[in-house]
Amino acid sequence: MDNEKIVSLIEVAIGAREMAYVPYSGFRVGAALMTKDGQVFPGCNIENAAFSPTNCAERTAFFSAIAAGNRDFAVIVVVGGPGDLLIKNCFPCGVCLQVMAEFCREDFRIIIAESPKHWRKFALSDLLPFSFKL
Ligand code: THU
Repeated sequence: MDNEKIVSLIEVAIGAREMAYVPYSGFRVGAALMTKDGQVFPGCNIENAAFSPTNCAERTAFFSAIAAGNRDFAVIVVVGGPGDLLIKNCFPCGVCLQVMAEFCREDFRIIIAESPKHWRKFALSDLLPFSFKL
């Protein structure tokens, strides 16, 4: 994947982050999930007064894409931080990694971005070497 495509996905994730509903933590997360055929699905975190119904940005993106009929995923970009800041280490939580493990294979990539210029790319197995499988 060329750098231009990565930058445009980071920009989608930063835009999606604007939609975050975070009255409890103030921590805004945005995601941009790209399917293997090039469709891009944004996601943001959506919190809840009862806390556990909170949905992370990554799962919002995955569930939107899956509900639209997609099953083949290439890459997800994640950005996040408190208020207007983006932090360097906004990694997906374990629950989101387990959702990725359900739908993604070894070729799937996770990009954690601090800005359109500063990002790191990981394989799912880097972040979740073992996952629950039935
Ligand atoms: N959050 C995400 O959106 N993605 C993650 O992978 C980790 C955490 C959200 C959930 C909650 O709204 C806020 O970040 C603070 O935990």
